[in-house]
Amino acid sequence: MIDFSEPPMLGDALLDHDHAQLFLLCRALLDVPSDAIRPAVEQLRAEMRAHFASEDANLRGLGGNNADCHLDEHAAVLASLDEVHLILGEPQTSQAMAQRLISSLALELLHWLPEHVGEMDANLAAVRSQSRFGGVGVRITPRLAQGPRSAGA
Ligand SMILES: [Fe+2]
Ligand SMILES: [Fe+2]
Repeated sequence: MIDFSEPPMLGDALLDHDHAQLFLLCRALLDVPSDAIRPAVEQLRAEMRAHFASEDANLRGLGGNNADCHLDEHAAVLASLDEVHLILGEPQTSQAMAQRLISSLALELLHWLPEHVGEMDANLAAVRSQSRFGGVGVRITPRLAQGPRSAGA
């Protein structure tokens, strides 16, 4: 079994939780039995849609080219999931075709997810963190160069 890299942790509890869950759902597609393919895609699609909706709300607030690219990427992934879901529902789609389709979808997503999280979501997490903590960076410096404090100073 191929070992896929998990999405990097971003230090944002909500995003990290969602990404871990999405990774598990994508990974599970590789082993899904034929009669459970459609429900598995439906679950992944629902969770992906909910996760993107949450990120998209932040991105629309930010605006700009980076946010637009990020929004476009989410939309493209959802469009692919919709297309796969549609094909799986067509009567001419055989079980073998469904298995091949689901395997290639899983492989695509397992490569895409860590990259997307490491590049695009990492930027979003930084912005979310700044807005939570008021945009003030915390800097801790050693006090080695300082002498003893004088009383009352
Ligand atoms: Fe994300
Ligand atoms: Fe994202």
